[in-house]
Amino acid sequence: MRNVSESNLTDAVLAKLEGAKDPRFKKVMTSLVTHLHAVIRETELTEKEWFAAIQFLTSTGKKCDHRRQEFILLSDTLGVSMLVDAINHRKPGGATETTVLGPFYVSGAKDMPMWADIAGDAPGEPAYVSGRVLDIMGRPIAGAVLDVWQTDGEGFYDVQRPGGDQQYARGKFTTGADGRYGFKTVRPVSYPVPTDGPVGKMLLGMGRHPYRPAHVHVIITAPEYERVATHLFVEGDKYLDSDAVFGVKHSLVVDFKAHPSGPAPGGGTSNVPYCSAEYDFRLVKS
Ligand code: BEZ
Ligand code: FE
Repeated sequence: MRNVSESNLTDAVLAKLEGAKDPRFKKVMTSLVTHLHAVIRETELTEKEWFAAIQFLTSTGKKCDHRRQEFILLSDTLGVSMLVDAINHRKPGGATETTVLGPFYVSGAKDMPMWADIAGDAPGEPAYVSGRVLDIMGRPIAGAVLDVWQTDGEGFYDVQRPGGDQQYARGKFTTGADGRYGFKTVRPVSYPVPTDGPVGKMLLGMGRHPYRPAHVHVIITAPEYERVATHLFVEGDKYLDSDAVFGVKHSLVVDFKAHPSGPAPGGGTSNVPYCSAEYDFRLVKS
């Protein structure tokens, strides 16, 4: 096509998709080109701004390695991850809602017995988290696996510590016939998403803080049920209404109740004050 101009350029690019064989690819690319061009037209983007955008994407890529995924962080902080999650996990009422996976999941966490302490020597206030895994009718699901991970009481995941090879605050628990799970940990605290890269600069430019409210991550899998990747958020956290990655759902906010030293969940005794949270997960058949 010759004489491509401001007015016909978008159509000229879209016409190039006519030969695309995969209909889904064609649909997504058509939408992408249409909206990308619309942004540039609407903002009358300058050349300097376009070059800044290219530099931003280049430095986002350069910040990625086997331990850091800056593009996922970009997607998370722009609400894209949660939008993809919402569209792909529409659940019936009463089912446990999903939320963002985040970059700190590590596969292969250790299998642990009921009431094991996942935190080990990690700093923080002792906490016990327990409940049941149920189906949508409230019946217990046996053999459900809960893969949990969280920060310590200073707001760091194990993989963020220098070296990052000392695993803590992670573990896998399998429910018995009663669907019950329970583990000891430390109370999670709110923490900032990584800000030492281009996404941190973007948040600053947008006038946003980088904090996530305190939470425990969990992925629940069970044969014949849909996998659920979700969080338990701590009631009262000051960032519940301004999560940097838009991940909070009302149904996932749990009270971490304070207790004096003495008898503790799981039949043990705590020599120090602790807190406890209870939550039942409800899974949908796949
Ligand atoms: C997290 O909760 O681990 C997380 C989620 C999104 C971005 C950064 C961290
Ligand atoms: Fe997290």
